[in-house]
Amino acid sequence: MSKTILITGGAGFIGSHVVRLFVNKYPDYKIVNLDVLTYAGNLENLRDIENKENYIFEKGDIVDEGYIKELFAKYNFDGVVHLAAESHVDRSITNPMEFIITNVVGTVNLLNAAKNLWKGNEEGKLFYHVSTDEVYGSLGDTGLFLETTSYDPQSPYSSSKASSDHFVRAYGNTYGMPYVISNCSNNYGPNQFPEKLLPLFINNIRNGKALPVYGDGKFTRDWLYVVDHAIAIDKIYHEGRKGETYNIGGFNEWTNIDLIKILCKQMDIALGNEAGTAEGLITYVKDRPGHDKRYAIDANKLKNELGWEPSLQFEEGLSKTIAWYLSNQEWMDNITSGDYQKYYKEQYS
Ligand code: NAD
Ligand code: TYD
Repeated sequence: MSKTILITGGAGFIGSHVVRLFVNKYPDYKIVNLDVLTYAGNLENLRDIENKENYIFEKGDIVDEGYIKELFAKYNFDGVVHLAAESHVDRSITNPMEFIITNVVGTVNLLNAAKNLWKGNEEGKLFYHVSTDEVYGSLGDTGLFLETTSYDPQSPYSSSKASSDHFVRAYGNTYGMPYVISNCSNNYGPNQFPEKLLPLFINNIRNGKALPVYGDGKFTRDWLYVVDHAIAIDKIYHEGRKGETYNIGGFNEWTNIDLIKILCKQMDIALGNEAGTAEGLITYVKDRPGHDKRYAIDANKLKNELGWEPSLQFEEGLSKTIAWYLSNQEWMDNITSGDYQKYYKEQYS
């Protein structure tokens, strides 16, 4: 095996697409997927690659310092791609401490383990920290987030991610940790937990349930198909400059309400329903506290330096996504029983 790479959070939404890409594309790498399997982690996401020779799953917690130390000693990792996190803004509003513990303490544990393992031997090593555009805060009607935009996180989630980004840079500056950070916009695609906008609304439309639009629905996000994010991570991991930050985005801004209307139209067609059926489920509900108005990414550094661009147009990505959820209803049914019902009631009643 030419390299042993730790991917954290590989059983989650984006992590599972990154693990699949690395396992299939690099048969000579050993890929270790570390995931504690929270409500968002699901090994079903990786059934197609779980028996590959170059893939190993380790169930464990990034917050457990002793365990992480042992894991690094066991595998002697050459690189880390760190995605494990608490990732949902609404949950961070209810329970900020969980976000501080996983996203900040967990990241620092990994940094310490990498620092101790690689001390004096940093050549060829890399700590890749996967972050979000939400660290930059909220934009007005114009402007884009650049890599040089000052951090201004507004939610407990984005504050915890911003803090972890700062720790990664501090380890680079203080201890010479070889690192790279990417900040990506909103992802969509197969295997996303139905607490996030698109899978939640797809599932509700399928079940004829209300579509809870926060506030006036005029909040803007930039949307990227998850496989394109995984491809960008691969490119940055192998070709990015150490100590740099790369913004990743879809060049694809939508207000929530416009996005939801397109989704409704496509869902009516996919389900064979009369036009307007899904739109009839739109229900405006109380706004999210501190709701960021607009995120928009300038991903030109990544495009110009590494030649990355999103491969899919949005309508095509959306119809692939809908098709995946409709043909994987068992996946959805399995994760929307039990605890999900409790979460849903508390969040939306
Ligand atoms: P997700 O919630 O779907 O998955 C997170 C994964 O991390 C889960 O498998 C979970 O079990 C695991 N995990 C959580 N706590 C852990 C712990 N203590 N130890 C080990 N594993 C743990 O999240 P996602 O949407 O796939 O996001 C992945 C990463 O990408 C996160 O760091 C997130 O901040 C970042 N990101 C997400 C988006 C997005 O649109 N979803 C956009 C930009 C950046
Ligand atoms: P979300 O998928 O939670 O991602 P983020 O908050 O990280 O951008 O939400 C995307 C947008 O959709 C955001 O503006 C909040 C809004 N939203 C709703 O209007 N209703 C919902 O039920 C959810 C989950 C989100």
